[in-house]
Amino acid sequence: MQLISKLPNVGTTIFTRMSQLAAEAGALNLSQGFPDFASPPALLEAAVRHLQAGHNQYAPMTGLPRLREQVALKVAGLYGRRVDADNEVTIVPGATEAIFCAVQALIRPGDEAIVLDPCYDSYEPAVELAGGRCVHVPLQLPDFAVDWQRLADAITPRTRLILINSPHNPSGALLSAADLDQLAALIRERDIWLISDEVYEHLVFDGVAHASVLAHAELYQRAFVVSSFGKTYHVTGWKTGYVVAPPALTAELRKVHQFVTFVAVTPLQHALADFMAGHPEHIAELPAFYQAKRDLFCARLAASRFSFTPAPGTYFQLADYSAIRPDLNDVQMAEWLTREKGVAAIPVSVFYQQPPTEMRLVRFCFAKREETLCAAGEKLAAL
Ligand SMILES: Cc1ncc(COP(=O)(O)O)c(C=O)c1O
Repeated sequence: MQLISKLPNVGTTIFTRMSQLAAEAGALNLSQGFPDFASPPALLEAAVRHLQAGHNQYAPMTGLPRLREQVALKVAGLYGRRVDADNEVTIVPGATEAIFCAVQALIRPGDEAIVLDPCYDSYEPAVELAGGRCVHVPLQLPDFAVDWQRLADAITPRTRLILINSPHNPSGALLSAADLDQLAALIRERDIWLISDEVYEHLVFDGVAHASVLAHAELYQRAFVVSSFGKTYHVTGWKTGYVVAPPALTAELRKVHQFVTFVAVTPLQHALADFMAGHPEHIAELPAFYQAKRDLFCARLAASRFSFTPAPGTYFQLADYSAIRPDLNDVQMAEWLTREKGVAAIPVSVFYQQPPTEMRLVRFCFAKREETLCAAGEKLAAL
C-alpha cells in the first residue's frame, strides 16, 4: 500500500523548529509568539477554583453561555455591535481550530481562497484539505499595505473566500477603516465570504483604534471574525478563542466545529468568563502594556545595525539585517542568530508562497519579560 499525503508540502512548522533550536542552543527565544511572563494571577486562581469545583465535563458545544455573554458585551462595548450570544458567538479551542472550521464550512473542491502574503501558516492547509486552492496576493513592501488593484485582479468567478489578518502577523501592519471600505466595495456584488483573523485585536499601539470587521456593518454580514483568548490573556497554551459571525454563518461553522473538537475546555471557559467580568481593566491596559515592551525592545534595537520601523500592532517586530549579514538568506540568518548569537528569531520568507528576492527580514517576538528583552537587545546590538 502506498500512503499518498494530502498535504505533501507541509512539514514541521518553522515555529516548532526554531523553538527546538533555541532550546538546544540555549538561546533567548524571541521566535515563537508566546509570553515568557506569568498569566494574570486572578485568572489562574479562577481556573484552579473551577477545576476543583468539579467543572470538568463537556461544556455546551457552542461554548458556556456565560462566556459567550461576556464576548457579546465586549463586542458591543468596543465595536458598537450588538450580537446575539446564542446565535452569533461560538467558543472554540483556539483561533486555529476556528479558522479551520470556517474554511471547511465555506470551501468546496475547485474553490479559490485569497490570502495576503506574508500570512499565517494554517490558512493554506485548511483550504487544501477542503479541496480548494489558495491564491496568494503579496502585500506591498515596505509597510505591508494591501495592493487593492492586485487583490481585485486576483478575484475570479471561483473566488469564494478572502482571509484577512489585522493586526498582521508577522509585520504588525494594521488595516484601517478606509481599507475595510475598499474591501467592501471590492466584494459587494460577489459571492465572496470573509474570515477576519483578529487574534491581536488588543495589540494596537500609538493611540490608534483597531478597525474591526465587527464595526463594519456591511462586511460583518459576510464574515467570520476570529479572536484568541490565548493572545489577550497571556495564556497561549490554553488554546481557547471565539468566533463572532452572523447566525447563518455561525450555524454552518458549528456543524463543522462539533465534529472537529466539539467543545473547548470547560474549566478554562469558566475562568475566562470570571476574569472578563471581574477585570475589564485587563483589556483596557493591554495596548500600553505591550507598547512599553515594543518601545523597550526597539530602543535596544536602535543601538544595533538592524534597521526597522516600530510595529504598529501585534507583539512582533520585524528587523532588516542587510547591514549585518547580507550574505545570508533569512532562514540562514535566523539559524545563525540562534546558534551563534544566542537570540532566536523567525525568518519572514516562510510566511510567503513566493518571498521577494531581496527581502532580508527576521521577526522577533517582544511578548517577553524586561530582562529577556534587554538581554536580547544587548546581544543584537553587539552584531
Ligand atoms: C495570525 C494568527 N492567527 C491565529 C493564531 C492562532 O491562535 P490560537 O493559538 O488561538 O489558535 C495565531 C497564533 O500565533 C496567529 O498569529
